[in-house]
Amino acid sequence: MSILDTTSLHLPKENPEAEDFLPLLGTDYVELYVGNAKQAAHYYMSAWGFQPLAYSGLETGVKDRVSYVLQQGKIRLILTSPLQSGGEINKHIDAHGDGVKAIALWVDDATKSYKETVSRGAESYMEPKTIKDEDGEVVLSGIHTYGETVHIFVERSNYKGTFLPGFQKWDPHYKAPDIGLKYIDHMVGNVGWNEMDKWCEFYAKVMGFAQLISFDDKDISTEYTALMSKVMSNGNGRIKFPINEPADGRKKSQIEEYIEFYNGAGVQHMAMATDNIIETVSALKDRGVEFLTVPAVYYDEVLDRVGEIDEDLEPLKELGILIDRDDEGYLLQIFTKPILDRPTMFVEIIQRKGAKSFGKGNFKALFESIEREQANRGTL
Ligand code: FE2
Repeated sequence: MSILDTTSLHLPKENPEAEDFLPLLGTDYVELYVGNAKQAAHYYMSAWGFQPLAYSGLETGVKDRVSYVLQQGKIRLILTSPLQSGGEINKHIDAHGDGVKAIALWVDDATKSYKETVSRGAESYMEPKTIKDEDGEVVLSGIHTYGETVHIFVERSNYKGTFLPGFQKWDPHYKAPDIGLKYIDHMVGNVGWNEMDKWCEFYAKVMGFAQLISFDDKDISTEYTALMSKVMSNGNGRIKFPINEPADGRKKSQIEEYIEFYNGAGVQHMAMATDNIIETVSALKDRGVEFLTVPAVYYDEVLDRVGEIDEDLEPLKELGILIDRDDEGYLLQIFTKPILDRPTMFVEIIQRKGAKSFGKGNFKALFESIEREQANRGTL
């Protein structure tokens, strides 16, 4: 079975409302356009424990860009930088800073995925094309989603190579230990004022997703800022895309801050799952990754709210890990500060212990923490 498979191929339907014209097997990769892919690759290896996988650039005959592919568990990141001036990647970086360009989805049939979505109104990004090398062939196609973000459909059943045709295996001397990241749990998009419903409708109509949950500004508001959020999911529940929009508050919301610095809609956070959040977060902190903190008082009341948990509270408190519960179980989660120069994208580390939700009970404590950071930046 492929390394990309997140659970088994015979999952019960997780989201029976969703339609099946676009079966998705999992997240294939996430590509970031960055200013300096070589150094970014070192950061994701040394701080985040990603392992080197594949490379393309001048040495492989590619003249205009360089890409480093990293892997940990089933998560694959591509870091891409331009090698020339004035191109499409340069413009993306100029407009947005470093950020996610593509959320690639693993499918059985990239041509059919393209036709089904474009016929339902998706804007074409890349018509189906077959790329080949001595290890076989891959079919790629792509559509636009919010902002300048795209979805690439990857059909790789006839390919045995390291990553994709055109990439060579990348095996540098330096390798940092893995920190236990397993798979992408969800990818969150921030969109502009009054655009949430439009993009949820896009995922429903064009991709056959259904809405799992929604939060309005009463759920997600503090004294100052507010946002609204809906979670869209595909049929087998492996792909979950929450969409946020700003809501009126007394001061500028974190979503507005994002939209301002990213120059439009884009990926706000990637949530990566671990089986041992205490070990994973301890390793990340030791390697210099910075997290949002909540006041110690959060831990005085948390067990009254969530009930009994398997973990000792003390290490969770020490690391600032948050806890929430829903009908099906509980979850542990923590959020980094923005990992880029601009206050745009961050990463969530999540360990699910039955819960299928997203930590609604933590929103208030969390957003107050974000506001303290915004106040430091003078952007509240
Ligand atoms: Fe999240």
